[in-house]
Amino acid sequence: MSDAEAHAYDADMRRANRRKAVDGRSVIFKIKRCDGPGKPSRWESFKVPVEEGANVISSLKWIAANPVTTEGSKTTPVVWDSGCLEEVCGACTMVINGRVRQSCSCLIDEYAPLEGDVITLEPMSKFPVIRDLWVDRDRLFSALTRVKAWVPIDGTYNMGAGPKESPEHQQMRYALSECMSCGCCLEACPQYTKVEDEEKWDTSFVGAHAISQARLFNEHGTGKQLKGERYDALSGPGGVSDCGNAQNCVKVCPKGIPLTESIGAVGRGTTIHAIKQFFQGKK
Ligand code: SF4
Ligand code: SF4
Ligand code: FES
Repeated sequence: MSDAEAHAYDADMRRANRRKAVDGRSVIFKIKRCDGPGKPSRWESFKVPVEEGANVISSLKWIAANPVTTEGSKTTPVVWDSGCLEEVCGACTMVINGRVRQSCSCLIDEYAPLEGDVITLEPMSKFPVIRDLWVDRDRLFSALTRVKAWVPIDGTYNMGAGPKESPEHQQMRYALSECMSCGCCLEACPQYTKVEDEEKWDTSFVGAHAISQARLFNEHGTGKQLKGERYDALSGPGGVSDCGNAQNCVKVCPKGIPLTESIGAVGRGTTIHAIKQFFQGKK
């Protein structure tokens, strides 16, 4: 089964589950909890009544108002992060039933249609846990700094019209621009190792998101001024050659960003850049 067929099958199954969801049921949330950085983790379960249209965030809100475990013990409200509540900011990303995704768009009817069904929630494992399901994604943003994922501007005055761009090129860049820095691609990547120590961030693989954003800005009329510097950053340790081509990243990206295509394009770009540097006597 191809990726596209598997995706369509998965969507059909979820639609079918939604149709047969039992009204007025309760589901069990099994949540991996942690009181703070460096503290041990533990599991707690909560029985949550589900209304039509409920999602993981609305269920977490119910738990926050009723922090009592299935054993009847009073506990602290579960902590999580969120912002937009419409799969745009990426803040609510967590591992749900073993798969990384956004919790705001995760409908309970699709995951737990029957009375007593269980949903497990865990924080992403590649980022330091702040508390419970809330992780520190700074490492992800620091990788974007490493590859200079921005358009350089010299002041805020009017610089006139930019270079012309074909609709096809705009469309290609638009797809890349949809990245919301959620971290799904990093959580799924075997090359992106778990790091607890903030000092080690710069020595690790930058990740598929940063490689793809480097491509986005290399393709920008003004952003391409920094193309050489981006390729320099991606030629060294932790750069594009550290990708093992497992392609897990592209399978979990909620925005369908062509990450493996970006990795291929940036890989070719860094090679050409290195050859040019060699013949110009710079390397
Ligand atoms: S293709 Fe590269 S970046 Fe994507 S999951 Fe595999 S190793 Fe990670
Ligand atoms: S590339 Fe996709 S999975 Fe990775 S951070 Fe961006 S939106 Fe999330
Ligand atoms: S809250 Fe923004 S993506 Fe879920």
